[in-house]
Amino acid sequence: MAIRGSDDKETGPFGLDVSPKGLQPRVVFALLLVGSAAGIWLSRWGEAFVARGFWWLLVVALGSLGGGLYWRLVLFDASDFEHDDTTRAVSEQWRRVEAFAVLALLLGGVGSVATGVMARPLDPGEVAVGFGVALSTFLWVGLDRYSGDERRQTATYVRWLFFAVVLGSLAGFVWTETSGRPLEWVVRAGHVGSFALWIGGASWHNFVVLPTLRARPDAADEIKAGARRFRRHLPVVIAVFLATGVYQAVRLLGYSVSALFGTPVGRFVAVKFAILAMLTGLVVVNFVKARKADDPDG
Ligand code: HEM
Repeated sequence: MAIRGSDDKETGPFGLDVSPKGLQPRVVFALLLVGSAAGIWLSRWGEAFVARGFWWLLVVALGSLGGGLYWRLVLFDASDFEHDDTTRAVSEQWRRVEAFAVLALLLGGVGSVATGVMARPLDPGEVAVGFGVALSTFLWVGLDRYSGDERRQTATYVRWLFFAVVLGSLAGFVWTETSGRPLEWVVRAGHVGSFALWIGGASWHNFVVLPTLRARPDAADEIKAGARRFRRHLPVVIAVFLATGVYQAVRLLGYSVSALFGTPVGRFVAVKFAILAMLTGLVVVNFVKARKADDPDG
């Protein structure tokens, strides 16, 4: 069952139905988690299970905050909303997601130091990650001071700073993973950037849009505008994932198809190809659905 707006058209950030009970948004979120875990398993091949777990938690938290803050600051437009109550409900819901992500960030950062993923002396990328973890926590706590309507503009500035700090931290993360080699850095930054945008969008959809719709089914039309803006990003995100993924796979395995299925590293890469294919399939199916809903005669 899809929640429908007053014009009776289906809506959804991934081109998916906005259904509070639907499985698809959760499937997308889970696929992104598994794909990123496979990525960290590859880039940290041979390291201890727990250490890789904390490093993965760190990139998931940074990605969710980076992509989620992009939505909050760029895609979310309060003027879409007729009722202040809905705007407030969306903002409060996002604030909860931020809290959860900042906690995960702290846990991932401290765990990465404790398990030696970030060994001393820290490299410049790890220093940026460390600053990012500390500053993000500080800024997130600071945002509470600007919660009133009259200080909304200041809160927006602080949140932009928060966004910049998270991006700096992600850039540092990628620096560490690529030892700062320029071409490798650019490719990996594209890969991790696509991940951040998508998992941030998936976090919004699952933990902001759907709970808000459950509480206020009437807000479906208002929420649709932000969701549409997000959907336009997906073809680019998928293309960047594919191009950067293939580049990295060739660097690891060469052009050998047998290495893709016949070696442990290759099988992880194959899983990532499969996950991207499933995500792309879901997006295509739902783009077609959304098109049909927009143009029932076409
Ligand atoms: C065509 C599909 C894909 C391929 C071939 C691919 C390939 C790779 C490879 C080979 C690495 C490791 C690079 C290295 O250690 O040198 C990697 C890292 C990574 N991938 Fe993918 N990937 C694909 C799709 C995805 C998807 C769909 C996600 C997210 C759900 C994802 C998230 C990540 C992450 C988070 C890393 C770790 C980055 C880091 O540690 O800096 N990848 N990918």
